[in-house]
Amino acid sequence: MAEDKREFPADFLWGGAVAAHQIEGAYQEGGKGLAITDLFTLGDKDHPRKITETIEASEYYPEHVASDFYHRYPEDIKLLAEMGFKCFRTSISWPRIFPQGDELEPNEAGLKFYDDVFDECLKYGIEPIVTLSHFELPLHLVQEYGGWRDRRLIEFFARFAEVCFKRYHNKVKYWMTFNEINNQTNFEVSGHLYTNSGIVPEAGEDREKLMYQAAHYELVASAQAVQIGHQIDPEMQVGAMIAMCPIYPLTAKPEDILFAQRAMQTRYWFADVHANGFYPRWMKHFFAKKGFDLDITAADLKQLQAGTVDYIGFSYYMSFATKYQGQADFNENRDLVDNPYVKTTEWGWQIDPVGLRYALNWFTDRYHLPLFIVENGMGAYDQLTEDHQVHDDYRIKYMQDHIIQMKRAVLDDGVKLLGYTPWGCIDLVAHGTGEMSKRYGFIYVDSDDHGHGTFDRYRKDSFFWYKNVIASNGAEL
Ligand code: BG6
Repeated sequence: MAEDKREFPADFLWGGAVAAHQIEGAYQEGGKGLAITDLFTLGDKDHPRKITETIEASEYYPEHVASDFYHRYPEDIKLLAEMGFKCFRTSISWPRIFPQGDELEPNEAGLKFYDDVFDECLKYGIEPIVTLSHFELPLHLVQEYGGWRDRRLIEFFARFAEVCFKRYHNKVKYWMTFNEINNQTNFEVSGHLYTNSGIVPEAGEDREKLMYQAAHYELVASAQAVQIGHQIDPEMQVGAMIAMCPIYPLTAKPEDILFAQRAMQTRYWFADVHANGFYPRWMKHFFAKKGFDLDITAADLKQLQAGTVDYIGFSYYMSFATKYQGQADFNENRDLVDNPYVKTTEWGWQIDPVGLRYALNWFTDRYHLPLFIVENGMGAYDQLTEDHQVHDDYRIKYMQDHIIQMKRAVLDDGVKLLGYTPWGCIDLVAHGTGEMSKRYGFIYVDSDDHGHGTFDRYRKDSFFWYKNVIASNGAEL
C-alpha cells in the first residue's frame, strides 16, 4: 500500500480511455464507411499486423468486431459509472460521420450513435472527452487522395470537426484533434506513416519528407479546428494529443546529453507547433538542411498562429533512452537503446513511473498549459478464473506507481493536471498487434484474439481497486 494519503484537487477528472476503432466493432453498421484500421490484420508481439488493400477472406481483422461496444455501450457505461468515473475518453469514428470522408453532408445514423453514447455517459454524470481522429481515417481518402499527402484533407477534416462541434458542444467540453500526432516520427517502421496519415509511400519516395508534409497539413487542420471550435462555443477546450516517451541520455557524457536533446526536439516539435503556433527555429533549419521544399504557405502559418491549443493531452506508457554514436541526426528506429535502470513489460515497453513526473514537468515548463494524461497503462495477458475473476495485481502495481508520481507532480511541483484516463479501461483490441489478449482494462471482455467468446463483461481486481482510488480522490492507492 502506498503511504501518500493526500488527495487530488476536488475537480480532478478520473476516468478511462478507449478509441472507436478498437472497441466499437460493427464496422459496417449504421452506414459507416471503411476506416483504414478495418484493413489491419491480426498480428502478435513477434509478427507485425499486415495492412491489406481489400478485405481478404483468409485474414482476420480484429477491429471488425472489437469489443462490440457499439451494441453493448449501455452495459459498459453502467460499469464505468459503478467505478465512479468522472469522465470517459473515446473517439468519434470519422467514417461513421462521413463514410467516404469527402461528402458535404454527414451520416445522421452515425451522429445519432454518438449522441446516444454521450447521453448515456451524462446520465451518470460522466463527462465525455473526445478525440476527433484516433487513426480512423476513412479508407476512401487514402484511395482517392493518397491520405494526408493531399492538402484537400485539411478541408475535409475541418468539415468533420465543425459538424461534430456543432452537434455535441453542449455535451462535450474537452476535445483533441489528432491522436499521437507525433508517433509518425518513426516513419521507417512499416505501418506508422499509414496509421497516422494514411500514406502508402511509392518506391523511391522520401518517407521522411512525406511525413513532415503530412504532419504539416494535419497541424494546419488542427489549428483550423481549434478556431472553429472556439467560434461555435468559446467554452470549448480543444487540445493536442502527443505520445510522450521522454528520451533520456544513456549517460551523463555531454555528447549523450546533447544528442538526447536533439532526440526530444525531433520527437516533440509537433507539440511546439500546436502550443506555440509556429515552427521552432531548429525545425526550419532542419528542413533547409535536408532540402525539404515543403508546401507551407504564408496562410498556413497564420492559421497555426490563430489556432493554438487550449491544453496538451498526452499518452504515457514508457520512456526511451539514447546514446550518441556519431549520428548526424536522431533516428527513432535506429538510435534507441535499452535503459538498464527500468524493467519492461512482456511487449518490451520500459516501465518508468518517475518518467511520468518528468514528462509532466517538462510539458509544463515548455508550454505553460494545462495537461491531461489521456492514456497510461500496462498491456498484459490476464487469466479469467472459473468463477470469472481476474487477479491483476501487476496492473494495480503499475498504476499505483504512476499515480504516486502524478500526485507528486500535481501537489509538490504545481503542475496543472486536468485529469487521468488510463488506457483501455474496458478490454479492447491492441492497436500495435491487434491482439485482444494484450489487455489493459479494469473490465474483462470475454473474447479471444479471433473474436471467439461470449463478450460478457467481468470486473477484474483492478476494477475494485480503481473504484476506491476514485472514491478517495487518490488518497487511497
Ligand atoms: C497508443 C494509442 O499508442 O497506445 C492506442 O493511442 C493504443 O490506440 C495504445 O492502443 C496502446 O498500444 P497497444 O499497441 O498496446 O494497443
